[in-house]
Amino acid sequence: MKGILLHGGHGTRLRPLTHTGPKQLLPIANKPMSQYCVEALKEAGITDIAIVIGGIGSSKVKEYYGTGKKFGLNFTYIEQDYPRGISHAISLCQNFVGNDKFVVFLGDNILRGGIKKYANEFDKSNADASILLCEVDDPSQFGIVEIQNGVIKKIVEKPKNPPSNLAVIGIYFLNSTIFDVIPKLKPSWRNELEITDALELLLEEKREVIVNTVTENWKDTGTPDDIIHANQFILETMVPFFLGEKEDDVLIDGKIMVGKNTVIKSGSKIFGPVILGENCIIESNSQIGPNVSIGNNSKIANCKIKNSIIMSDCVIDCTVSINNSIIALNSKIIANEKDDEKVFLLGEGTKIVF
Ligand code: TTP
Repeated sequence: MKGILLHGGHGTRLRPLTHTGPKQLLPIANKPMSQYCVEALKEAGITDIAIVIGGIGSSKVKEYYGTGKKFGLNFTYIEQDYPRGISHAISLCQNFVGNDKFVVFLGDNILRGGIKKYANEFDKSNADASILLCEVDDPSQFGIVEIQNGVIKKIVEKPKNPPSNLAVIGIYFLNSTIFDVIPKLKPSWRNELEITDALELLLEEKREVIVNTVTENWKDTGTPDDIIHANQFILETMVPFFLGEKEDDVLIDGKIMVGKNTVIKSGSKIFGPVILGENCIIESNSQIGPNVSIGNNSKIANCKIKNSIIMSDCVIDCTVSINNSIIALNSKIIANEKDDEKVFLLGEGTKIVF
Protein backbone atom coordinates (compact mmCIF):
# COMPACT_ATOMS: atom_id res chain seq x y z
CA MET A 1 0.00 0.00 0.00
CA LYS A 2 1.17 3.56 -0.72
CA GLY A 3 0.52 6.77 1.18
CA ILE A 4 -0.56 10.27 0.19
CA LEU A 5 -0.07 13.06 2.71
CA LEU A 6 -1.97 16.25 1.92
CA HIS A 7 0.16 19.24 2.84
CA GLY A 8 -1.47 21.97 0.74
CA GLY A 9 -4.59 24.06 1.44
CA HIS A 10 -5.19 27.68 2.42
CA GLY A 11 -5.17 27.41 6.22
CA THR A 12 -7.32 30.55 6.45
CA ARG A 13 -8.83 29.61 9.81
CA LEU A 14 -5.36 29.61 11.34
CA ARG A 15 -4.25 33.03 10.23
CA PRO A 16 -1.98 34.74 11.21
CA LEU A 17 -0.11 31.50 12.06
CA THR A 18 -0.36 30.39 8.42
CA HIS A 19 0.90 33.66 6.92
CA THR A 20 4.46 32.37 7.11
CA GLY A 21 4.10 28.64 6.50
CA PRO A 22 1.72 25.72 6.06
CA LYS A 23 -0.52 24.81 8.98
CA GLN A 24 0.62 21.20 8.88
CA LEU A 25 4.08 22.25 10.09
CA LEU A 26 2.68 24.01 13.17
CA PRO A 27 3.98 22.16 16.22
CA ILE A 28 1.87 20.11 18.57
CA ALA A 29 3.85 18.96 21.61
CA ASN A 30 6.94 20.34 19.82
CA LYS A 31 6.52 18.25 16.65
CA PRO A 32 4.95 19.34 13.33
CA MET A 33 1.38 18.09 13.25
CA SER A 34 1.90 16.28 9.91
CA GLN A 35 4.72 14.24 11.45
CA TYR A 36 2.11 12.39 13.51
CA CYS A 37 0.54 11.35 10.16
CA VAL A 38 3.93 10.31 8.76
CA GLU A 39 4.57 8.20 11.87
CA ALA A 40 1.11 6.59 11.63
CA LEU A 41 1.78 5.70 7.97
CA LYS A 42 5.16 4.23 8.86
CA GLU A 43 3.69 2.23 11.72
CA ALA A 44 1.19 0.75 9.23
CA GLY A 45 4.14 -0.43 7.10
CA ILE A 46 3.66 2.22 4.38
CA THR A 47 7.01 3.48 3.14
CA ASP A 48 6.31 5.14 -0.25
CA ILE A 49 4.54 8.41 0.44
CA ALA A 50 3.60 11.25 -1.89
CA ILE A 51 3.44 14.62 -0.14
CA VAL A 52 1.11 17.04 -1.93
CA ILE A 53 2.39 20.58 -1.43
CA GLY A 54 1.24 23.94 -2.68
CA GLY A 55 1.41 27.64 -2.00
CA ILE A 56 3.09 29.34 0.88
CA GLY A 57 5.76 27.36 2.61
CA SER A 58 6.05 24.45 0.16
CA SER A 59 9.82 24.84 0.34
CA LYS A 60 9.62 24.57 4.16
CA VAL A 61 7.88 21.20 3.78
CA LYS A 62 10.60 19.91 1.44
CA GLU A 63 13.29 21.27 3.74
CA TYR A 64 11.79 19.56 6.79
CA TYR A 65 10.90 16.18 5.30
CA GLY A 66 13.63 15.92 2.62
CA THR A 67 13.85 12.63 0.75
CA GLY A 68 12.35 10.81 3.72
CA LYS A 69 15.64 9.07 4.50
CA LYS A 70 15.88 10.47 8.03
CA PHE A 71 12.43 8.96 8.73
CA GLY A 72 13.26 5.63 7.05
CA LEU A 73 10.72 6.45 4.29
CA ASN A 74 10.66 7.52 0.61
CA PHE A 75 8.94 10.81 -0.12
CA THR A 76 7.80 12.03 -3.54
CA TYR A 77 6.64 15.66 -3.78
CA ILE A 78 3.64 16.51 -5.94
CA GLU A 79 2.79 20.17 -6.53
CA GLN A 80 -0.80 21.38 -6.47
CA ASP A 81 -0.98 24.76 -8.23
CA TYR A 82 -3.95 25.96 -6.13
CA PRO A 83 -6.09 24.33 -3.40
CA ARG A 84 -8.76 22.98 -5.75
CA GLY A 85 -10.00 20.41 -3.24
CA ILE A 86 -9.00 17.12 -1.69
CA SER A 87 -10.28 15.08 -4.66
CA HIS A 88 -8.21 17.30 -6.96
CA ALA A 89 -5.12 16.72 -4.83
CA ILE A 90 -5.74 12.95 -4.97
CA SER A 91 -6.16 13.03 -8.76
CA LEU A 92 -2.64 14.49 -9.08
CA CYS A 93 -1.26 11.31 -7.51
CA GLN A 94 -2.64 8.82 -10.07
CA ASN A 95 0.75 8.03 -11.62
CA PHE A 96 2.35 7.80 -8.21
CA VAL A 97 -0.08 5.15 -6.93
CA GLY A 98 -0.47 3.20 -10.20
CA ASN A 99 -2.55 0.11 -9.43
CA ASP A 100 -1.64 -0.07 -5.74
CA LYS A 101 -4.08 0.48 -2.92
CA PHE A 102 -3.35 3.64 -1.00
CA VAL A 103 -4.27 5.72 2.02
CA VAL A 104 -4.84 9.47 1.89
CA PHE A 105 -4.00 11.23 5.15
CA LEU A 106 -4.92 14.88 5.60
CA GLY A 107 -1.84 16.47 7.16
CA ASP A 108 -3.93 18.25 9.79
CA ASN A 109 -5.67 15.14 11.14
CA ILE A 110 -4.38 13.40 14.22
CA LEU A 111 -5.71 9.99 15.24
CA ARG A 112 -4.48 8.64 18.53
CA GLY A 113 -4.01 4.91 18.09
CA GLY A 114 -2.83 5.08 14.47
CA ILE A 115 -4.19 3.39 11.34
CA LYS A 116 -2.47 0.00 11.25
CA LYS A 117 -5.53 -2.19 11.90
CA TYR A 118 -7.64 -0.29 9.34
CA ALA A 119 -4.85 -0.47 6.72
CA ASN A 120 -4.52 -4.24 7.24
CA GLU A 121 -8.26 -4.75 6.98
CA PHE A 122 -8.49 -2.76 3.73
CA ASP A 123 -5.43 -4.46 2.28
CA LYS A 124 -7.05 -7.87 2.70
CA SER A 125 -10.50 -6.78 1.47
CA ASN A 126 -12.00 -6.40 -2.00
CA ALA A 127 -13.57 -3.05 -1.11
CA ASP A 128 -12.96 0.05 -3.24
CA ALA A 129 -12.74 2.33 -0.21
CA SER A 130 -12.64 2.30 3.54
CA ILE A 131 -13.51 5.32 5.62
CA LEU A 132 -13.21 6.11 9.30
CA LEU A 133 -16.00 7.74 11.27
CA CYS A 134 -15.98 9.54 14.58
CA GLU A 135 -18.85 10.76 16.73
CA VAL A 136 -18.95 14.56 16.85
CA ASP A 137 -20.93 17.05 18.93
CA ASP A 138 -21.56 19.47 16.04
CA PRO A 139 -22.48 17.31 12.99
CA SER A 140 -23.57 20.30 10.92
CA GLN A 141 -19.85 21.20 10.59
CA PHE A 142 -18.68 17.91 9.03
CA GLY A 143 -19.29 15.37 6.27
CA ILE A 144 -21.86 13.11 7.96
CA VAL A 145 -22.91 9.57 7.06
CA GLU A 146 -26.32 7.98 7.01
CA ILE A 147 -26.11 4.35 8.10
CA GLN A 148 -28.88 1.73 8.00
CA ASN A 149 -28.37 -1.71 9.56
CA GLY A 150 -24.63 -1.15 9.67
CA VAL A 151 -24.46 -0.30 5.95
CA ILE A 152 -23.50 3.15 4.74
CA LYS A 153 -26.22 4.72 2.58
CA LYS A 154 -25.19 8.28 2.04
CA ILE A 155 -22.62 10.98 2.86
CA VAL A 156 -23.80 14.57 3.25
CA GLU A 157 -21.48 17.54 3.63
CA LYS A 158 -22.32 19.91 6.52
CA PRO A 159 -26.02 18.86 6.72
CA LYS A 160 -28.65 21.22 8.19
CA ASN A 161 -30.57 18.18 9.48
CA PRO A 162 -27.82 15.64 10.23
CA PRO A 163 -28.88 12.00 9.71
CA SER A 164 -26.37 10.95 12.43
CA ASN A 165 -23.52 12.38 14.47
CA LEU A 166 -20.90 10.25 12.68
CA ALA A 167 -18.39 12.39 10.81
CA VAL A 168 -16.05 11.13 8.07
CA ILE A 169 -12.52 11.82 9.29
CA GLY A 170 -9.58 12.84 7.08
CA ILE A 171 -8.06 9.41 6.49
CA TYR A 172 -9.28 7.52 3.40
CA PHE A 173 -8.25 4.07 2.18
CA LEU A 174 -8.77 3.86 -1.57
CA ASN A 175 -7.96 1.93 -4.71
CA SER A 176 -7.67 3.17 -8.28
CA THR A 177 -11.49 3.17 -8.75
CA ILE A 178 -11.45 6.65 -7.23
CA PHE A 179 -9.65 7.93 -10.38
CA ASP A 180 -12.71 6.87 -12.43
CA VAL A 181 -15.11 8.94 -10.32
CA ILE A 182 -13.06 12.11 -9.70
CA PRO A 183 -13.37 13.31 -13.35
CA LYS A 184 -17.17 13.16 -12.93
CA LEU A 185 -17.16 15.62 -9.99
CA LYS A 186 -18.31 19.22 -10.23
CA PRO A 187 -16.77 21.91 -8.03
CA SER A 188 -18.74 22.57 -4.84
CA TRP A 189 -20.07 25.95 -3.60
CA ARG A 190 -16.54 26.68 -2.34
CA ASN A 191 -15.18 25.82 -5.78
CA GLU A 192 -13.40 22.67 -4.64
CA LEU A 193 -13.55 19.05 -5.80
CA GLU A 194 -14.76 17.53 -2.55
CA ILE A 195 -13.70 14.12 -1.23
CA THR A 196 -17.21 13.58 0.21
CA ASP A 197 -18.68 13.96 -3.30
CA ALA A 198 -16.21 11.38 -4.67
CA LEU A 199 -17.11 8.93 -1.86
CA GLU A 200 -20.82 9.59 -2.42
CA LEU A 201 -20.33 8.74 -6.12
CA LEU A 202 -18.67 5.46 -5.16
CA LEU A 203 -21.77 4.67 -3.08
CA GLU A 204 -24.14 5.66 -5.90
CA GLU A 205 -22.22 3.35 -8.23
CA LYS A 206 -22.75 0.54 -5.68
CA ARG A 207 -19.05 0.18 -4.92
CA GLU A 208 -18.15 -1.47 -1.65
CA VAL A 209 -17.15 1.03 1.03
CA ILE A 210 -16.03 -0.28 4.42
CA VAL A 211 -16.77 1.86 7.48
CA ASN A 212 -15.15 1.77 10.90
CA THR A 213 -15.95 4.02 13.82
CA VAL A 214 -12.93 5.19 15.76
CA THR A 215 -13.18 5.53 19.50
CA GLU A 216 -9.67 6.91 20.11
CA ASN A 217 -9.12 10.66 20.17
CA TRP A 218 -9.32 12.19 16.72
CA LYS A 219 -8.75 15.83 15.91
CA ASP A 220 -8.98 17.84 12.73
CA THR A 221 -6.70 20.69 13.73
CA GLY A 222 -8.22 23.37 11.51
CA THR A 223 -8.70 26.06 14.17
CA PRO A 224 -6.59 27.43 17.07
CA ASP A 225 -8.88 25.78 19.65
CA ASP A 226 -8.48 22.41 17.86
CA ILE A 227 -4.70 22.76 18.01
CA ILE A 228 -4.76 23.60 21.71
CA HIS A 229 -6.97 20.58 22.36
CA ALA A 230 -4.75 18.26 20.26
CA ASN A 231 -1.72 19.59 22.15
CA GLN A 232 -3.36 18.52 25.39
CA PHE A 233 -4.19 14.99 24.29
CA ILE A 234 -0.79 14.38 22.71
CA LEU A 235 0.96 15.63 25.88
CA GLU A 236 -1.15 13.21 27.93
CA THR A 237 0.19 10.26 25.90
CA MET A 238 3.89 11.18 26.09
CA VAL A 239 6.50 9.30 28.07
CA PRO A 240 8.20 11.70 30.52
CA PHE A 241 11.91 12.55 30.19
CA PHE A 242 14.21 15.07 31.84
CA LEU A 243 17.41 16.04 30.02
CA GLY A 244 17.74 19.56 31.43
CA GLU A 245 18.68 21.07 34.79
CA LYS A 246 16.53 22.05 37.71
CA GLU A 247 17.59 24.33 40.55
CA ASP A 248 16.51 23.73 44.16
CA ASP A 249 13.10 24.92 45.23
CA VAL A 250 11.29 24.15 41.96
CA LEU A 251 7.79 22.67 42.26
CA ILE A 252 7.07 19.96 39.70
CA ASP A 253 3.69 18.25 39.74
CA GLY A 254 2.57 15.82 37.03
CA LYS A 255 4.28 14.60 33.88
CA ILE A 256 6.95 16.74 32.24
CA MET A 257 9.23 16.34 29.23
CA VAL A 258 12.33 18.54 29.32
CA GLY A 259 14.94 18.85 26.55
CA LYS A 260 18.73 19.21 26.73
CA ASN A 261 20.27 22.33 28.30
CA THR A 262 16.96 23.69 29.53
CA VAL A 263 17.22 25.28 32.96
CA ILE A 264 14.29 25.58 35.37
CA LYS A 265 15.21 28.23 37.92
CA SER A 266 14.49 28.21 41.62
CA GLY A 267 11.02 29.44 42.61
CA SER A 268 9.23 28.33 39.44
CA LYS A 269 6.33 25.88 39.29
CA ILE A 270 5.53 23.36 36.56
CA PHE A 271 2.21 21.53 36.44
CA GLY A 272 2.25 18.70 33.89
CA PRO A 273 1.62 17.67 31.31
CA VAL A 274 4.18 20.10 29.96
CA ILE A 275 6.94 19.79 27.36
CA LEU A 276 9.90 22.17 27.36
CA GLY A 277 12.24 22.07 24.34
CA GLU A 278 16.02 22.39 24.35
CA ASN A 279 18.02 25.41 25.56
CA CYS A 280 15.08 27.07 27.32
CA ILE A 281 15.26 29.18 30.45
CA ILE A 282 12.35 29.13 32.86
CA GLU A 283 13.02 32.01 35.24
CA SER A 284 11.95 32.22 38.91
CA ASN A 285 8.32 33.20 39.48
CA SER A 286 7.12 31.45 36.34
CA GLN A 287 4.21 29.04 36.56
CA ILE A 288 3.79 26.72 33.57
CA GLY A 289 1.02 24.22 32.90
CA PRO A 290 -1.00 22.25 32.61
CA ASN A 291 -1.14 21.48 28.86
CA VAL A 292 1.72 23.66 27.70
CA SER A 293 4.34 23.11 24.99
CA ILE A 294 7.35 25.39 24.76
CA GLY A 295 9.71 25.11 21.77
CA ASN A 296 13.52 25.33 21.77
CA ASN A 297 15.53 28.38 22.84
CA SER A 298 12.64 30.17 24.55
CA LYS A 299 12.78 32.19 27.72
CA ILE A 300 9.86 32.48 30.13
CA ALA A 301 9.84 34.87 33.08
CA ASN A 302 7.34 36.12 35.66
CA CYS A 303 4.18 34.80 34.01
CA LYS A 304 1.62 32.02 34.32
CA ILE A 305 0.97 29.96 31.16
CA LYS A 306 -1.62 27.21 30.75
CA ASN A 307 -3.30 25.39 27.81
CA SER A 308 -0.96 27.03 25.33
CA ILE A 309 1.74 26.54 22.70
CA ILE A 310 4.78 28.79 22.73
CA MET A 311 7.01 27.98 19.76
CA SER A 312 10.81 28.24 19.51
CA ASP A 313 12.95 31.35 20.02
CA CYS A 314 10.31 33.27 22.02
CA VAL A 315 10.76 35.57 24.99
CA ILE A 316 7.76 35.87 27.30
CA ASP A 317 8.53 38.21 30.17
CA CYS A 318 5.33 39.52 31.63
CA THR A 319 3.24 39.40 34.79
CA VAL A 320 0.02 38.38 33.03
CA SER A 321 -1.62 34.94 32.88
CA ILE A 322 -1.56 33.45 29.41
CA ASN A 323 -4.31 30.94 28.61
CA ASN A 324 -5.54 29.16 25.44
CA SER A 325 -2.87 30.87 23.36
CA ILE A 326 -0.61 30.06 20.42
CA ILE A 327 2.51 32.17 20.07
CA ALA A 328 4.53 31.49 16.92
CA LEU A 329 8.31 31.39 16.42
CA ASN A 330 10.54 34.24 17.40
CA SER A 331 7.87 36.31 19.18
CA LYS A 332 8.32 38.53 22.19
CA ILE A 333 5.87 39.68 24.88
CA ILE A 334 7.16 42.13 27.45
CA ALA A 335 4.58 43.50 29.89
CA ASN A 336 4.13 44.73 33.43
CA GLU A 337 0.39 44.37 33.89
CA LYS A 338 -0.60 42.45 36.99
CA ASP A 339 -2.53 39.19 36.96
CA ASP A 340 -4.72 39.97 33.99
CA GLU A 341 -5.63 36.87 31.93
CA LYS A 342 -4.83 37.16 28.24
CA VAL A 343 -5.39 35.02 25.14
CA PHE A 344 -2.87 35.49 22.32
CA LEU A 345 -2.80 34.21 18.75
CA LEU A 346 0.49 35.63 17.48
CA GLY A 347 2.06 35.07 14.06
CA GLU A 348 5.80 34.53 13.59
CA GLY A 349 8.05 37.38 14.73
CA THR A 350 5.41 39.36 16.67
CA LYS A 351 6.64 41.84 19.30
CA ILE A 352 4.25 43.08 22.00
CA VAL A 353 5.20 45.52 24.72
CA PHE A 354 2.61 46.93 27.12
P1 TTP B 1 -9.16 22.10 4.81
O1 TTP B 1 -8.91 22.20 6.27
O2 TTP B 1 -10.53 21.71 4.38
O3 TTP B 1 -8.82 23.45 4.10
P2 TTP B 1 -7.61 24.43 4.30
O4 TTP B 1 -6.37 23.70 4.71
O5 TTP B 1 -7.52 25.21 3.03
O6 TTP B 1 -7.99 25.36 5.54
P3 TTP B 1 -9.05 26.55 5.74
O7 TTP B 1 -10.41 25.92 5.56
O8 TTP B 1 -8.81 27.02 7.15
O9 TTP B 1 -8.73 27.63 4.74
O10 TTP B 1 -8.14 21.06 4.17
C1 TTP B 1 -8.02 19.76 4.70
C2 TTP B 1 -6.63 19.24 4.47
O11 TTP B 1 -6.39 19.01 3.08
C3 TTP B 1 -5.52 20.14 4.92
O12 TTP B 1 -4.47 19.31 5.44
C4 TTP B 1 -5.06 20.81 3.67
C5 TTP B 1 -5.30 19.78 2.60
N1 TTP B 1 -5.68 20.31 1.30
C6 TTP B 1 -4.84 20.15 0.21
O13 TTP B 1 -3.72 19.60 0.33
N2 TTP B 1 -5.25 20.59 -1.00
C7 TTP B 1 -6.46 21.20 -1.19
O14 TTP B 1 -6.79 21.57 -2.32
C8 TTP B 1 -7.32 21.37 -0.03
C9 TTP B 1 -8.63 22.06 -0.17
C10 TTP B 1 -6.88 20.92 1.19
